[in-house]
Amino acid sequence: MMVLQEAGMAELEGLEFGKSDFVLLDEVTMEQFMDNLKLRFEKGRIYTYIGEVVVSVNPYREMDIYGKDTIDAYRGRELYENPPHLYAVSDAAYKAMKRRAKDTCIVISGESGAGKTEASKHIMQYIAAITNPSQKAEVESVKNVLLKSNCVLEAFGNAKTNRNDNSSRFGKYMDINFNFNGDPTGGHINNYLLEKSRVVQQHEGERNFHSFYQLLRGGSEEMLKSCHLHNDPALYLYTREGSAATTSNNDRMNHKAVMSALDAIGFLPEEIRSINQILASILHLGNVSFASDGENIKILGLDSVKHISELTATDPDSVSKSLLFRTVATGGGEVIEKGHTEQDACFGRNAFAKALYERLFGWIVSRINGIIEVKDYNPVLHGKNTVIGVLDIYGFEIFDSNSFEQFCINYCNEKLQQLFIELILQQEQDEYQREGITWQHIDYFNNQIIVGLVEQQHKGIISILDEACLTVGNVTDTVCLESMNTKLAQHPHYTSRKFNPSDKSMDFQKHFRIRHYAGDVTYSVDGFLEKNKDLLFQDFKRLMYNSTNPVLKEMWPDGQLSITEVTKRPLTAATLFKNSIVALVDKLACKEPYYVRCIKPNEMKSPVLFDDARCEHQVAYLGLLENVMVRRAGFAYRQLYARFLQRYKMTCEYTWPNHLMSSDREAVEAIITQHGFHDDVAYGHTKLFVRTPRSLFTLEQERAALLPILVLFLQKVWRGALARLRCRRMRAIYTIMGCYKRYKVKAHFWEVERRFANVRTMADYGRSVQWPTPPAALASFHRITNTLHRRWWARQIVKNIPPSDMLEVRAKVAALTSLSGERKDWGVGRAWERDYLSNVRDCPQTSSGFVRVSRELKNKDGYGQVVFSGFCRKVNRFNKSTDRALLITDQFVYKLEPRKQFKVLKRVPLDLFTGLSVTSGVDQMAVLHTSSHDDVLMCLQPGELCPNQDRVGELVGVLVDHFSRDCPRCFRLAVGRNAARPVCSSQILKPEYQTSGPQPPPCESTPSGPEQPRDLWARLFNVKNLRLLTDAELSAPFRRGRRAVFLTRLFGDLQVGRRRRWVGLMEIWCFH
Ligand SMILES: Nc1ncnc2c1ncn2[C@@H]1O[C@H](COP(=O)(O)OP(=O)(O)OP(=O)(O)O)[C@@H](O)[C@H]1O
Ligand SMILES: [Mg+2]
Repeated sequence: MMVLQEAGMAELEGLEFGKSDFVLLDEVTMEQFMDNLKLRFEKGRIYTYIGEVVVSVNPYREMDIYGKDTIDAYRGRELYENPPHLYAVSDAAYKAMKRRAKDTCIVISGESGAGKTEASKHIMQYIAAITNPSQKAEVESVKNVLLKSNCVLEAFGNAKTNRNDNSSRFGKYMDINFNFNGDPTGGHINNYLLEKSRVVQQHEGERNFHSFYQLLRGGSEEMLKSCHLHNDPALYLYTREGSAATTSNNDRMNHKAVMSALDAIGFLPEEIRSINQILASILHLGNVSFASDGENIKILGLDSVKHISELTATDPDSVSKSLLFRTVATGGGEVIEKGHTEQDACFGRNAFAKALYERLFGWIVSRINGIIEVKDYNPVLHGKNTVIGVLDIYGFEIFDSNSFEQFCINYCNEKLQQLFIELILQQEQDEYQREGITWQHIDYFNNQIIVGLVEQQHKGIISILDEACLTVGNVTDTVCLESMNTKLAQHPHYTSRKFNPSDKSMDFQKHFRIRHYAGDVTYSVDGFLEKNKDLLFQDFKRLMYNSTNPVLKEMWPDGQLSITEVTKRPLTAATLFKNSIVALVDKLACKEPYYVRCIKPNEMKSPVLFDDARCEHQVAYLGLLENVMVRRAGFAYRQLYARFLQRYKMTCEYTWPNHLMSSDREAVEAIITQHGFHDDVAYGHTKLFVRTPRSLFTLEQERAALLPILVLFLQKVWRGALARLRCRRMRAIYTIMGCYKRYKVKAHFWEVERRFANVRTMADYGRSVQWPTPPAALASFHRITNTLHRRWWARQIVKNIPPSDMLEVRAKVAALTSLSGERKDWGVGRAWERDYLSNVRDCPQTSSGFVRVSRELKNKDGYGQVVFSGFCRKVNRFNKSTDRALLITDQFVYKLEPRKQFKVLKRVPLDLFTGLSVTSGVDQMAVLHTSSHDDVLMCLQPGELCPNQDRVGELVGVLVDHFSRDCPRCFRLAVGRNAARPVCSSQILKPEYQTSGPQPPPCESTPSGPEQPRDLWARLFNVKNLRLLTDAELSAPFRRGRRAVFLTRLFGDLQVGRRRRWVGLMEIWCFH
């Protein structure tokens, strides 16, 4: 049963478009109803709700409301979330089917031309558009066939009538099957009572079915030729009437569309050919006429017969015979051929043409059904197979002359109206009962009485017709009318001229009138019996069954019965129709129905004309006003407590954002009380019922005013939540990164600690220990610790040297540093005696004499100690050499004459010397530079100790050590690279070095000018990019403790209680 939801709200449409739900009318009067309907129509709003029922007014123009965007806007939305639309009901039906596994149906009703077929197409398109999001091929193909079938069925089942250019002349009920996923898996089309009389005769201004005109106007020349047709409908009796009719249908284009649709659906080429051949046969059949020569009749237009036999793949003689004779079995089992009268022949021909078309139509429908039927369905595997049915059946019809077809069609509409009344009212009643609300009865017209007039057993019109058909003898339509007049005389909805002699609109013995729910319809009884009998001579059935065309044969299975075979009397057309409609109604009744009530605004097919009288009439007979009243009976609106609360909770402080009450019902009561609507509502078991729409409007308006604030609030909260989420994520990332970095740093510390733990006890003090690769963050730390270790290591080595050796070690270190590898052999491996001239082993003959002289000099000049002494060969500028003795003390440099008891030839204060130049070769040349450019060039001579002794290195060592330590002033050392030649003084470069502090190694590219302490440190510690840190930075690393401790532990003896060392360490540390 349909679940009532809240009335559609004019949320997205301003009130200038009228009320989007008739339930919201201030007063339910026809006047207000019509005003609203008209206003909306004029404003281009063709859909309006009555609760869940959609009232649709035919716009008679293309509307821009069926595009993809609109479909997207309605997809998955509730009815009230968007303006009224077919899509909204379609979605409601789809949702009910999908969410609750309910079979649903959409019943589209309204009179001819009101827009039912168009509506059904829009519904199908919507369902097709919202299903199968994963684009499964098999589902797509089902959807395609379902959509394409419309085009084919319209071509064969629709025709231009005076009411509608594309009037459906058959009823269509299409079931679409869905799997548990909500995707269409197949379908089934039920067709009802095709108006086949149209094949042979049309009212003035009307047309035969579109298919004939499409074939003639759109068929290729070749195809027409093969069918012996010409492309002029006026040439064929059956299409002559409509040949000139102007319609909006473009037959040629439609023919193409139908052919491609047939192909797309899966009709085989030979089947499509057969369809065209059957249509052609019917057209030819119409052109067959008969002439009587008094006794016998003959066929005029034998060519047509020839064509028919060719097109139907039958024998021409058999065709002629079937048209002229009738085979009858006598009581004695004899078979005789009875010639037709001209009238019988015409009747037979027309009946044959109608039957051919009807069977063709039936076959096409069954063929489509065969293609789209759900195959291999396993409920265990695929879940419940649910169905949405779409009913587009001919609308209520009143023509100038109404015949048997109109009678059936109008009866069908009575049945559907009955269903509508029953469902709507029943449901309302059930709902109030279920919810414990007192039901207030609303008067409405129940058309059951009219339904009874038509279908009642024994007394109904159909029964009377059937009885007349069964009666043997010459029972005419008039006799039948008499019978109806007798039996239905008392019926309030039946009348005829007999009972209304003054009513000239009816003829005696011809017309009867039924007062239908939609209006009075006068039927002409002419042809009723014949159409009800729906007689077709057996000969035609056999003829067709014997066709060699398998398609045709398949359509006529009853043709295989032998003439003498006695069969049960077939049911009459009216009974068959009644049964099918009863079955249809039963089918609909067990589904959850959704209604589309179509209204035709005018008869002119005008997009601007709103014919008040016509529309009011339709509103009245469709019972729309009653529908609104019933909907509002007592309560215009009802809603489940939870959903009501959900929608309006922001309007009450106790319920926003969440209530603390024990149930939703109490929360709803709080909202109602706060707004003072207590007298306007009733509380059901599960739903709240609101009596007047005004209360609801108030709530809606409040809600609308609050929404922007809520939206802002939600945006704020949501943005905040998003930002916090991002922030948390970033923090987590940084924490992880930090942890990892810390871990890497710690791991490096641990590893260094592990490797160097025992360096103090190692023989090499850890020199062989491999340093682990540091993480990038510890690169400078690594360099510094490395340097520190090397320094510590050096100290360990140095501290073991006895003080007596220290002088020599210092001199050697000074030489090593100064020469920086420029000189290969510089005497590092031997003991540096310094004072060779007093060494007995080196100068056995002269040493005693020299000792004496030196003592005298010491006493005289008061120098402290001898820095260096030895023999040398002086070279003057003429390259003349003389042996001399060189004595360098801490005060003077003496040039002595060895051969004259070391007489002093020259004494120069040591302070005057500014530098020393040596070569990188093995020669023993050395130049002592003085500030007065009185340089001394000499070649040191070895003594007895070792003939090949290198003394240049020693000289460099002792002098550099002396100047750096004892005489802190500028002293330059240069090493000439050219080992092959002695370097003359003018070639020697003169870099300037500050002698205070450690000495940098000399090098040729050393820039002139005093070196900055920074560079000095850089050179000393072999570190690049030094930067002097600020005080704060200086102390920061040590505050951390860890590194300091680490350093302490590693190089403990470097910092034992000595602040200066600490400072030194810190300085080292901070240069990075
Ligand atoms: N929503 C619509 N948008 C545009 N035109 C429409 C719409 N609905 C109907 N029409 C126009 O009205 C004509 C008649 O509509 P339709 O064929 O759907 O009527 P019907 O109710 O099916 O009539 P019948 O009972 O005769 O089959 C259409 O051919 C079309 O021109
Ligand atoms: Mg239609």
